[in-house]
Amino acid sequence: MESRGLIACAAEDGVASGKHGSAALRPAFVREFGSHRTTELTKRGDPPIGPSAEAASRIVVDRPDEQHLPEAARIFRLAFGTFLGAPDPETFWRDRDYVHGRHQAAHVASFGAKLEGKLVGSNFATKWGSVGFFGPLTVHPDLQERGIGRALLAGTMPQFDAWGTRQVGLFTFAHSAKHVALYQKFGFYARFLTAIMSAPVAPRGGASRFSELSEAPHGRAGESRFSQLSETQRREALRSCRDLTDELYAGLDLTAGIGATQEQGLGETVLIDGAHGIAAFAVCHHGPRSEAGAERCLIKFGAVRAGPLAEQDYLRLLDACGAYAAAVGMPNLSAGANMARHEAYRHLVARGFRAEIQGVSMHRHNDPGYCRPGIYIIDDWR
Ligand SMILES: CC(C)(COP(=O)(O)OP(=O)(O)OC[C@H]1O[C@@H](n2cnc3c(N)ncnc32)[C@H](O)[C@@H]1OP(=O)(O)O)[C@@H](O)C(=O)NCCC(=O)NCCS
Repeated sequence: MESRGLIACAAEDGVASGKHGSAALRPAFVREFGSHRTTELTKRGDPPIGPSAEAASRIVVDRPDEQHLPEAARIFRLAFGTFLGAPDPETFWRDRDYVHGRHQAAHVASFGAKLEGKLVGSNFATKWGSVGFFGPLTVHPDLQERGIGRALLAGTMPQFDAWGTRQVGLFTFAHSAKHVALYQKFGFYARFLTAIMSAPVAPRGGASRFSELSEAPHGRAGESRFSQLSETQRREALRSCRDLTDELYAGLDLTAGIGATQEQGLGETVLIDGAHGIAAFAVCHHGPRSEAGAERCLIKFGAVRAGPLAEQDYLRLLDACGAYAAAVGMPNLSAGANMARHEAYRHLVARGFRAEIQGVSMHRHNDPGYCRPGIYIIDDWR
């Protein structure tokens, strides 16, 4: 696999002292993913980075090796399991993967925090063209509140500058003053409630919320599935998807996410035909190697071409995703709804989707980006 080393020149570049986006970052170095240079935070006499600067001062942030991934996945489970009060954090969220798949994906940069050579936390930055987000950010529960999360963020932020990311955001727990305050230190501000919502695709004994659920493996009329297309058709579909998202927000580009889903076998991209190419598409995950979790198909990202047919095409997209979930034996369909995208959210509620996890999206510079009324996008920034 390609070596994409990174990049924790945080203190040296002034990030840890609050100068985010420092021009001192060497963009070419980061872009090339070639070097494995690391910097120990605060080594050069930077200002203290918190009440427990001592632990943070011994932290090294760089790209984790393959051998660190199982430990990163274990810390991910322990951190979320402990925070959410699971009885056995070691086994929490064993039904999903947020570490190996992201580490492999070309549009994701991985960050590991090491204390005396031992992995103690990790973070992942994802690039959707001009839009980026980070997470899951996790620190071993025994070592939290010592500045390690902050060191990981300091190591992550320059990646977005190197990519030239215009809109950067994250999803976090709205009720946690600590989370909101931590991200605020890096220029992120809480905006709208954002819910990961789910609905059963075929409720027992009740009418389906999705019209004409179909078991047809290739989808229904007016729909197609990326995996079923020829190479030429795939190229055309990617071009059309890029064109669609670019109209919604300049530079927004999910083609790498579509490619990673296909290459890693994480699910499928459902495509809805329209008069001007693809009218809507959704990147759907399911299965234990994906981010979906057991018994569900997760719309990792979905978008509808702007125009008078957007609302109708959004409903077609939801139907197609429901049909796909049924076809692959997933009883539930999940979708991320930022409540700033009011119409998209209301239609999910009307379809019977209920919030399973409710948090808040935080945006760098408080920039709304594509989270605006009238935009039909489903996304998951976890
Ligand atoms: C979130 C998480 C990654 C943070 O890592 P951490 O190493 O504990 O964080 P740090 O110690 O670097 O930073 C926490 C900061 O919040 C501050 N803080 C804590 N509680 C606070 C409060 N109630 N109000 C304001 N600030 C608060 C701390 O003072 C510290 O800032 P400082 O270093 O400037 O003093 C870690 O707690 C974790 O893994 N949690 C479980 C998984 C999770 O929720 N991940 C994030 C999902 S979005």
